Amino acid sequence: MDILTKKVKGAEDILPADSYKWQFVEDLMREEALNSGFREIRTPVFEHTVLFNRSVGETTDVVQKEMYTFDTKGGESITLRPEGTAGAARAYLEHAIYSDGLPVKVFYQLTCYRYEKAQAGRQREFHQFGMETYGAADAKADAEMICAANSIFERLGLEDIRLELNSIGCKDCRKDYTNALKAYFSDNKEKLCDTCLSRLERNPMRILDCKNESCKQVAANAPVVLDYICPDCSAHFEKVKTFLDAADVEYTVNPTIVRGLDYYTRTVFEFVTDSIGAQGTVCGGGRYDGLIEELGGQPTPALGFAMGIERLMLVMKAQGIELPEPEKCDIYIAPLGDAAEKKAFELLWELRRSSFIAETDIVGRGLRAQMKYANKIGAKYSMVIGDDDLNAGTAKLKNMETGETVDVPLDENFTEAFSDITLQSEKGMLMDLLGSDNMDILRDIIGKTNDGE
Ligand code: HAM
Repeated sequence: MDILTKKVKGAEDILPADSYKWQFVEDLMREEALNSGFREIRTPVFEHTVLFNRSVGETTDVVQKEMYTFDTKGGESITLRPEGTAGAARAYLEHAIYSDGLPVKVFYQLTCYRYEKAQAGRQREFHQFGMETYGAADAKADAEMICAANSIFERLGLEDIRLELNSIGCKDCRKDYTNALKAYFSDNKEKLCDTCLSRLERNPMRILDCKNESCKQVAANAPVVLDYICPDCSAHFEKVKTFLDAADVEYTVNPTIVRGLDYYTRTVFEFVTDSIGAQGTVCGGGRYDGLIEELGGQPTPALGFAMGIERLMLVMKAQGIELPEPEKCDIYIAPLGDAAEKKAFELLWELRRSSFIAETDIVGRGLRAQMKYANKIGAKYSMVIGDDDLNAGTAKLKNMETGETVDVPLDENFTEAFSDITLQSEKGMLMDLLGSDNMDILRDIIGKTNDGE
């Protein structure tokens, strides 16, 4: 196939026939975040490479194998963001957002770039929705984060997504664990890939999320971090669980979750499903109490999560969840002749200014073809305007479903007349829906919207 008409591997188009599903999901996520007091942050698609090296971590798969990094003409090393946490933290510090008072709560919807092996649910360009909180050390903040993610899944009607929870402790209690891992992996050196051999000294925890099969097998029997966490971290973890219980959010503790990025401390969590194959982690997050300091700020507890929107879409498809389709065209206006075309265009924009979805011909079709098109786009009403109609000052508005027609004035009263007609028809539909048992309630509603008529 010609390269000019072929997308780059690992990237996907979101086509007009599907974009309404994305809009629905993104709107719902935005609403969830706003309702919990989070405000949107938008950061650039690229950052200085060193930001990701420092935050995500030099020995992670993301930094070692997956980043889209390039030198600009000015000689700067730039990287397309592989995730949203680092950029948001950079912006938090750069603009001193903390000076407005803590906690600071932000959310984002963005594209991310990772040079991974593309497969269902794993892309090289993908979309994340994420939430981050800065300046909250309390376990309630962990629970708030987890509950917000959970609420999004619930509101989308998703089932079979389980929450898995772990604690990977703080910098201090991590030392003993790192030593235990070093000892274990040193005894199994011959089974590790070259990248993991280099991680053995620098950061043995990263061997635990290597995607290499042989490394995975060794990692399966490695010591687990939960056995090494200090009393403070343990108490924090217990409190997180208590708040999740209070909010009636179910979870299982999975001591093997360590997450693939270096900045995490204490609570880590993943929402996982079996309904979309191998790439079943739809959301991941946790605390990162050391990151802000690592980037040059004051010590600031922080935490967050991000969910992969493509994976969510796959789950919704697998579970047969239908989303409301966008509103169809309210009215199609078909003009015949030059003068009618002008009138149609004038009415079209009056209708649109009043928030109706109105369409007219823009490709020079004949009347029959126009009516066929009006049918195809599901127009609720159509109206043909010819010279006779212009002279008479009225035209026939046709209800495309019932075939009924009614005369409407082609003057400044047109939009109001159309508005009345659609309102009456909506009331009729409501009446059919409610049935005769609820006629009193209906009369009440109609009475109110109809000036007591
Ligand atoms: P992450 O686990 O690397 O965490 O990514 C979060 C989510 O993004 C994953 O659970 C998955 O749904 C989606 N995702 C990751 N890679 C891909 C891919 N190649 N194709 C499709 N979807 C993908 C983070 O990115 C952290 N920044 C999350 C976080 C925010 N932690 C604290 N705050």
